[in-house]
Amino acid sequence: MGISEILKSAHSGWRYIVIILLVAAIANAVAGWLGKKPYTEGTRKLNVFTLISAHIQLLSGIVLYFMNSWYKVDSSISMGRYWKMEHISMMIFAVILITVGNARSKRFDSALVKHKTIAIYFSLAIIIIFGAILAMVKADASRSFWGVS
Ligand code: HEM
Repeated sequence: MGISEILKSAHSGWRYIVIILLVAAIANAVAGWLGKKPYTEGTRKLNVFTLISAHIQLLSGIVLYFMNSWYKVDSSISMGRYWKMEHISMMIFAVILITVGNARSKRFDSALVKHKTIAIYFSLAIIIIFGAILAMVKADASRSFWGVS
């Protein structure tokens, strides 16, 4: 198994860490927002860990993109288009939403507004991530929605 295979499996499996942390952070934010709970140190850490996990996924993705020459593939077929442009643009957008949501949440004093900011930005990010993975399964029959390759 070469470095590219190892990195691909890492990127493939790491999605679960990102998704689990996102789900936990969203559940926590919605509960905090609607239940008017304080914004605790635990909440701050959960949101930061979610952010870090997304940045790790971003880094491994960028390396894979260049290492496996996805920027060179033929974009006239849907599989090529997906890997050359769609995956990275949707995923980078999702990571930007997580980054901006986390940064904006720090600017407010009100716990309620902090929770609300996280809830909205992180929810949009997870919707885009699921959309991108669905699009992946449609464009590339060798990949699956659940499961690690
Ligand atoms: C939260 C963000 C992301 C998630 C959840 C995610 C998820 C995935 C999944 C599920 C695969 C398929 C792996 C398999 O075949 O089992 C994949 C492949 C890939 N991802 Fe991502 N990804 C994310 C971000 C990114 C970013 C930001 C980039 C690039 C800048 C990227 C580049 C790639 C590339 C190039 C592949 C193909 C790997 C290969 O077969 O050579 N990903 N990603």
